[in-house]
Amino acid sequence: MTAGRHAVEVEGLVKRFGEFAAVDGVSFTVEPGELFGFLGPNGAGKTTTISMLCTLLRPSGGRASVAGHDVVAEPDAVRRSIGLVFQDTTLDDLLTGEQNLRFHGVLYGLPEAEVVNRMGPLLEMVGLSDRADQRVQNYSGGMKRRLEIARGLVHAPRVLFLDEPTLGLDPQTRSHI
Ligand SMILES: Nc1ncnc2c1ncn2[C@@H]1O[C@H](COP(=O)(O)OP(=O)(O)OP(=O)(O)O)[C@@H](O)[C@H]1O
Ligand SMILES: [Mg+2]
Repeated sequence: MTAGRHAVEVEGLVKRFGEFAAVDGVSFTVEPGELFGFLGPNGAGKTTTISMLCTLLRPSGGRASVAGHDVVAEPDAVRRSIGLVFQDTTLDDLLTGEQNLRFHGVLYGLPEAEVVNRMGPLLEMVGLSDRADQRVQNYSGGMKRRLEIARGLVHAPRVLFLDEPTLGLDPQTRSHI
């Protein structure tokens, strides 16, 4: 453990692509239980920042910890602590909603019974209980988004990252999310 009680701690975080600084010294902290949003125009560096916090990109400078684990020194511990909903959807279209959640559970090494227990309430939460046995390719855009959010929570992560999860959704679904 490198940090204290903060859910996310970011200090002077930098990401350079060649000469270009996509993220230039960002600092913030997020407390447990806090819903933290960061806004910026296209290209501001939001996705790049999230990618560093999720250990998908290595920072060029500064430091960050998630759920008490340093993103550079303890990437595996960070990955075990987080859920992630990407800006672009990453569902398996040929699987049903339920199969997508089960597959995710397998990847995280969860016992089958635990996945089954958690799946029902999550599908209920995102309003997909009655569509869970249908292939994702037949879902609408909003349904896919909602399934992704359920999937991001299957393994009960301590921190959930959402990169523009309401992109392309109608106002009702936005507000629901
Ligand atoms: N792999 C890369 N190589 C070079 N430049 C990159 C790379 N990834 C991102 N960038 C640049 O970094 C900047 C920040 O991009 P990023 O995707 O983080 O922005 P964003 O705030 O998420 O934007 P949007 O609102 O459009 O999603 C952009 O100028 C982008 O072109
Ligand atoms: Mg982005």
